[in-house]
Amino acid sequence: MAEARQVIGVIGSGQMGSGIAQLAAVSGFDVWLHDSDSGALLRAKEGIAATLRRLISKGQLSQAVGTDALNRLKFTSNLEDFRNADVIIEAIIESEDAKKSLFSHLDKLAKPSAILASNTSSISITRLASATSRPTQVIGMHFMNPPPVMKLIEIVRGADTSEEIFSKVKALAERFGKIVICSNDYPGFIVNRILMPMINEAFHALYSGVATKEDIDTGMKLGTNHPMGPLELADFIGLDVCLSIMKVLHQGLGDNKYSPCPLLIQYVDAGRLGRKKGVGVYSYNKEPVIFDCSKDKCRPNRKPIESCEPI
Ligand SMILES: NC(=O)c1ccc[n+]([C@@H]2O[C@H](COP(=O)([O-])OP(=O)(O)OC[C@H]3O[C@@H](n4cnc5c(N)ncnc54)[C@H](O)[C@@H]3O)[C@@H](O)[C@H]2O)c1
Repeated sequence: MAEARQVIGVIGSGQMGSGIAQLAAVSGFDVWLHDSDSGALLRAKEGIAATLRRLISKGQLSQAVGTDALNRLKFTSNLEDFRNADVIIEAIIESEDAKKSLFSHLDKLAKPSAILASNTSSISITRLASATSRPTQVIGMHFMNPPPVMKLIEIVRGADTSEEIFSKVKALAERFGKIVICSNDYPGFIVNRILMPMINEAFHALYSGVATKEDIDTGMKLGTNHPMGPLELADFIGLDVCLSIMKVLHQGLGDNKYSPCPLLIQYVDAGRLGRKKGVGVYSYNKEPVIFDCSKDKCRPNRKPIESCEPI
């Protein structure tokens, strides 16, 4: 008899959750994707379908695999649909209270053998596990952004995560085609323990007038061979996510060197969350085309007259 296909549930259909669901579906699993916000769920549904269509049209994914993935990916506003999931991957906002409350709910709802994984960037897996009656089956599965593209998954063992669960989750990550690194359960794990202080320092450099945002980013790209500058990367990750991680590092490690830069806090307060909101350190709204051809009637940002060239 053919072995039943594993069912993966993903919770939170934002930039990470939708990418994880797409990756799992393309890797051959049956997938449920849930979000408490029906608008976010709809955006994820349309976004994943558009991405798969684009990959097929570019020849980077076969029509058969893409169509099959879409057929096996289901969207739901009802967590009851996760009762049969073998592995549940949580990717909701980076808030310990919200995640704990969700884990406690999932513990009551999921089948006894189900693994509860969190995509948290920094929050203690041990503490999330403490909200459940199955701490041996709770684990960190930290995907990088965007999940279908980035090669790494950082697996984080909580204090009670069993060896058996670790091995199962490592095998799952490898089925996704990823390289695994393993971290113990300390704030920020490996990647964000090192990355976020660098991003925070870039905010301090901007805040204290060391240089412009463009020069800070160009300096780190061309001077240290990073593919993106730290401020550009912060916009890509989401400034709210960066701030939450800095707070976890600050609180968890108890050292003021991790205290979030006031400018980062102010941007988040202002709703400048990065690319997902169209504005963060940089603005992603279409810039008005500037015309300046030095002719009498032509002024910057005005409707151009004939023969004006955008600059
Ligand atoms: N953004 C990154 O680069 C990145 C990288 C790795 C890990 N992470 C982690 O992944 C998680 C999600 O980050 P994101 O960038 O996708 O955030 P996001 O803001 O894009 O998406 C979060 C989604 O969770 C939903 N949500 C919130 N509370 C919920 C609940 N109780 N139940 C169901 N849905 C809920 C929201 O409606 C939203 O759609 C965070 O823990 C973050 O730290 C983020």
